[in-house]
Amino acid sequence: MSANAGPTGQTPTATPDPVRNDAVQESAFLKACRREPVPHTPVWFMRQAGRSLPEYRKVREGIGMLDSCMRPDLVTEITLQPVRRHHVDAAIYFSDIVVPLKAIGLDLDIKPGIGPVVEQPVRTRADLARLRDLTPEDVSYVTEAIGMLTRELGSTPLIGFAGAPFTLASYLVEGGPSRTYENAKAMMYGDPELWADLLDRLADITAAFLKVQIAAGASAVQLFDSWAGALAPADYRRSVLPASAKVFDAVAGHGVPRIHFGVGTGELLGLMGEAGADVVGVDWRVPMDEAARRVGPGKALQGNLDPTVLFAGREAVETKAREVLDTATGLEGHIFNLGHGVMPSTDPDALTRLVEYVHTQTAR
Ligand code: CP3
Repeated sequence: MSANAGPTGQTPTATPDPVRNDAVQESAFLKACRREPVPHTPVWFMRQAGRSLPEYRKVREGIGMLDSCMRPDLVTEITLQPVRRHHVDAAIYFSDIVVPLKAIGLDLDIKPGIGPVVEQPVRTRADLARLRDLTPEDVSYVTEAIGMLTRELGSTPLIGFAGAPFTLASYLVEGGPSRTYENAKAMMYGDPELWADLLDRLADITAAFLKVQIAAGASAVQLFDSWAGALAPADYRRSVLPASAKVFDAVAGHGVPRIHFGVGTGELLGLMGEAGADVVGVDWRVPMDEAARRVGPGKALQGNLDPTVLFAGREAVETKAREVLDTATGLEGHIFNLGHGVMPSTDPDALTRLVEYVHTQTAR
């Protein structure tokens, strides 16, 4: 079987190209993840592919979000768009955190302007039985898309990703987006055994999904625990960290850096590193030097420009980006990113200029 099976139907097996692999390993992004000296501070943006780009809106016309995630040709094109336009240092695989849940047969959809909505929320032990294991065959389009993508990307690394057990559980238990997570937290506090079993199931599904991406050629992975900031540290440690640690353990030993990110997680940064990450993502609420103190030695950091700064004009963007670089001076590994995803109404030219600014400011 060959990695060049292409879009003809057969799922290509993972045979990452050794030449590309060497070039990718020497990229500024992977060097920073490994806390090695870099030629410039690498930059990428969460949600760099998406509605901020007119070319994205064009190819997505009339195609549902989840449908587009299952089409390797579209996934490849959309993933490449921000790399071509902004010259970012890494691509992030175009998908969504609920894709593996859809792949095991859960009845869910992503509603425009709302987010993931689950038809029948997971609230009881009987509901748990609906969460079966994920096999590579369930997501053969991921293997196919990553094969196509890595050939196109050349020396640019590809970041695979998944939602962390807590953030996935928040959608499954609530049935959709929530500000308070009252149903999820009610299960966590009120039926800790059911909660632990749910998170453990989700950890297995997530680990399997990340392993598919790594086998197909992803050279780093990011675990999005976007909503973990809703938790107190003691609750995070007791009720969430074990499941996230299980995911990180499962994907250790592949030489693939593991990034851990959440929003409003200033109080959790140390624990999120402890869960097993090589790189900890930081939002804009904590300066990078303080984040480094909270995370402790031995880990790289990623962040942390407030995404709304991009609406404030070139001068303000440069001032605030300079602040991020200054607070990150002397860190062993720094990957420049926003503190959360690119907002859909962001001017894409502001992003292109920001990449150029960080590259020229940090060129060594
Ligand atoms: O470029 C990239 O970063 C890769 C693409 C990506 C998407 N979702 C595509 C997407 C990634 C990394 C995600 C992860 C994701 N999905 C997270 C974690 C990251 C974060 O932002 O905290 C979460 C919480 C979700 C759940 C989700 N999916 C939400 C909240 C939404 C937004 C709903 C809306 O319409 O505003 C989605 C939909 C979604 N996922 C879109 C994109 C580009 C927008 C839908 C569209 O373009 O039609």
